This record gives sequence, structure tokens and C-alpha cells, in this order.
Amino acid sequence: MGPEVTRAALRVLEAAAGACGAAVEVRVGEAGDAAARRYGEPLPRETRRLVEWADAVLKGPVGETARHVVIPLRRMVGAYANIRPAHVLPGVEALRPIDLVIVRENLEGLYAGIEWEVPGAAFAVKVATEAETRRVARVAARYAAGRRGRVTVVHKANVLAKTDGLFRRVSFETLRRLGVNADEMYVDAAAMEMVRNPLRFDVVLTMNQYGDILSDLAAQVAGGLGLAPSANLGDEKALFEPVHGAAWDIAGKGVANPTAMILSSAMMLDWLGFHDAARAVERAVEETLAAGEKTPDLGGNLSTEEYASRIAGRVRCS
Ligand code: IPM
Ligand code: MN
Repeated sequence: MGPEVTRAALRVLEAAAGACGAAVEVRVGEAGDAAARRYGEPLPRETRRLVEWADAVLKGPVGETARHVVIPLRRMVGAYANIRPAHVLPGVEALRPIDLVIVRENLEGLYAGIEWEVPGAAFAVKVATEAETRRVARVAARYAAGRRGRVTVVHKANVLAKTDGLFRRVSFETLRRLGVNADEMYVDAAAMEMVRNPLRFDVVLTMNQYGDILSDLAAQVAGGLGLAPSANLGDEKALFEPVHGAAWDIAGKGVANPTAMILSSAMMLDWLGFHDAARAVERAVEETLAAGEKTPDLGGNLSTEEYASRIAGRVRCS
């Protein structure tokens, strides 16, 4: 359902850019399973050129080839910090009250791509560097400053003494130097706490794979994966995408929930400096959900397109 939620998000994006006078020039490139079939590669050359041209990239779910699209895109964009907020939207039934932001290291850890096999065994190398940890910890500090001011460093340094140990040490050094109030939790305990008492978390700073897993968990606690946006931030460029994947069971049926994609475009507008347009999109989403106008995954009966047009119709610039 990548193309379906992408169309929906572009429709809302255009409404917001128009209403708020945000000069956004949109160019559309193909990527993913369909692109792989058509061009022989999931991230075709033309799309890579568009990514080089753009300041920001809004990426839809791409399917089975996701790894071969997402990981290279994060590298091209230099997106070292993956920002994954989870909070309860109006009119949505959450498992628990939750309001946190996961700041996930995005380029190394077990995602460094150093993996090989020999007969009877397979190996992966986990990478943690001081420079990368320092800059992602700085991003966590920045988010904490705009929120309740607390960072929880999530790791497994009791077992992975060297890699997670470095991540833990450098995170604390950086946060302390910036005067940020920080505590820590092992990742297994953090998974439990995120279900038991999610409000104890404000900003969660963690390593790549832990952030991948915890962000799905946090999204479900907040009401479902269809609602969870993300921002992959570099210093010069950024990439925005829903936390979820391509949802095969509902692909092509016109019923996918485009909220995560729409809210990702709001994060993009914000990052581009179009704050009014970003707020306008967020408000329109909240009003639409609060009015009970929903897609089937949330108990509603609107199609992807109907839902998007209700949101677009509510976009107003303050
Ligand atoms: C995500 C996805 C990706 C990840 C995959 C598709 C490479 O699960 O964005 O959370 O693991 O980062
Ligand atoms: Mn994931």
C-alpha cells in the first residue's frame, strides 16, 4: 500500500503548503518492489538523483526490498538520528497513556552491514563509535530540552560490555556536559516498562536495533503502527517515513491508514522550517480522528482517499 498512502500524504501536503504559503517543490521518484521489477533495482538511479537534488525525502513503505531502499537512503542522506515519537492521538484507543520520543542511532550498531557466513555458522559485527554516539546523544538532548527534559539511555551494557558499554559511557558524558537529566535502563527492562508504565519515559536514547524494536512497541501502545511517523535526521538533509512497512494483507484495497505517512510529512514540513504548515497538518489529523472519521484499522469505515480528503479539507493555516 506504499503508493496509496503516499498519494494520500501528498494530497494533504499540497493542501498545507497551499494554505500556509510554504514553497515546497515536490518531485516523485519510484522505489521498492515495483521499481525492482521495472528497473532491476529497488532504488533506481533516477530516484537516487532526485534524493541528491532534494533537501528532504518523504519515503513511503516499499515492501520486500525495504532493506535495500531504506538503509542506502539513510546513508545517502547522512541521517544519523532516527526520531520516533509516540503519543496518543485524540479519538484513538491506546493501550496505555504514552508520550515519548525514541532517538535511535541510525547508521551503525548491528545495522553496520558487516555480516557473513561460513558453513554452519553466521556472524554479524556490532559497531559503536564515540563520534556517532556523541552526535546522536546531542540530538536526544535537543529533544529533551523541548519536552520534559529527561533522557533514558537504553542499552545492554551488562552483556555487550564493549559496544553497548561505549554507547552508554559516551551518551552519559555528552548528556552530562549538556546539563541534561539522564538515567538508564537495560533494553529488556525498557521493553517491559514501556508496556507497564510508558509515562516514565520522555526521551529514549538507544542503539539502532533496540530503537527499531522499541519503536514498534511504543507505536502499538499509542494505538497502532498506522499512526507512527518518523524523521531520519542528518546535518544537511533528512528523510521522513512511517515506522510501518507495506502491510501486504491490505495492499491495493484502498483501506490503508495513511496517518503515519501524513504525520511524517508534517515532521518534514517542520524540519524544512514551514512550522505553520506542519502544525496545520497535525491539527487537521487530530480534528479528523477526534470527529471519529477513521480508516478500518481504527474501527472506522473510510477509505484511504476519503480519510485523506477529510484531513485536507480541515487544513487551515493559523
Ligand atoms: C524501520 C524498518 C527498517 C529498519 C527496515 C525495513 C530496514 O523496520 O524503519 O523500522 O529496521 O530500520
Ligand atoms: Mn522497524
